Amino acid sequence: MTTIPISFTVNDRDVELSLDPRESLLDVLRERLALTGTKKGCDQGHCGACTVHLDGRRVLSCLTPAVQAAEQHVTTIEGVAGQDGDLHPLQQAFIDNDALQCGYCTPGQIMSGLACIAEGNTTTDDTIREYMSGNVCRCGAYVGIVAAVRQCAHRTEAS
Ligand code: FES
Ligand code: FES
Repeated sequence: MTTIPISFTVNDRDVELSLDPRESLLDVLRERLALTGTKKGCDQGHCGACTVHLDGRRVLSCLTPAVQAAEQHVTTIEGVAGQDGDLHPLQQAFIDNDALQCGYCTPGQIMSGLACIAEGNTTTDDTIREYMSGNVCRCGAYVGIVAAVRQCAHRTEAS
């Protein structure tokens, strides 16, 4: 099997690995770096549970070859809270708005929500719903999820 040496950062930590080019970023994060906050739902690009940021853009890590992260910055849910352990305002907003039940989709929802806010796609609830539509919640916590993104977007704009 041919492997490719690559280096990248994950949540500000430098990583060097030799990777099979067929390995997904999701499997590398979970199985080789023990970052299990990023969830595997469908493994086929349909559910959004595996959403992470690659150089600030949201990607579905199940569809992203890990070698594509070479020389880039990966942010996972483990890198969202502050260094001191304080929750990010969007994490707090999920709690405030009961935006989760089982929690399986939540890391992906938060990574997409952060991107949605950074992209400015929060002007109306319909806009939030549209730009969060790639993230499926089997528990149906959508009302709380939209409220959480709206709350955090407003706080971010006000600060
Ligand atoms: Fe990647 Fe479902 S696990 S989209
Ligand atoms: Fe259970 Fe979303 S909270 S799948």
